Amino acid sequence: MNTEKENKLQELFGEIENDASLPLRESNLVFGEGNNDCEVMFIGEAPGQKENELRRPFVGRAGQLLTKTIEEIGWKREDVYITNIVKRRPPMNRDPLPEEILAYKPYLTKQIQIIRPKIIAPLGRFSMNYFLPDAKITRDQGKVFRLGSVFVVPLLHPAAALRSSSMMALFRESFKKLPRIVEKHKELVPHDQGTLV
Ligand code: URA
Repeated sequence: MNTEKENKLQELFGEIENDASLPLRESNLVFGEGNNDCEVMFIGEAPGQKENELRRPFVGRAGQLLTKTIEEIGWKREDVYITNIVKRRPPMNRDPLPEEILAYKPYLTKQIQIIRPKIIAPLGRFSMNYFLPDAKITRDQGKVFRLGSVFVVPLLHPAAALRSSSMMALFRESFKKLPRIVEKHKELVPHDQGTLV
């Protein structure tokens, strides 16, 4: 944990809480959690019911799978940082709207700038397309992309992995690549390029 980053994140939390122009303000703010000095930042779509209740990202069924899979590769959930592109729950867990993603974008951008991870692992299509607009989840999950100085490794959403054994196998297989990507990130030749913000 880095105190300077923690202070900046606290400040950012306050900015989001006080921004009356943001959509979905009837739901709780689920800011994100984990090690602010991490190498890998996992970014999902938007909080669900359980996340809204507990004000923590990825704590429902999909979240339990995420935590378990992080542990399977020898890491701890507390070692990484976990957040979402949209920081409040859309009603009935519907997909986030483009304008909601856009409204929260400046805050996610700042959060990434404060944490400065080496690797961003978007979870699922929405988060992947936020960073890589032309990517296709089945084609590109598990590949390494570069956005400026950050590597982006899109992964299946854990909720999708829970839907079939083949998706689960793919999810776990791509996850297993992460330690090596972290270790080798300086030497990696990225698959493609895009823009971060
Ligand atoms: N799904 C997401 O995309 N994010 C969460 O925090 C929980 C479920």
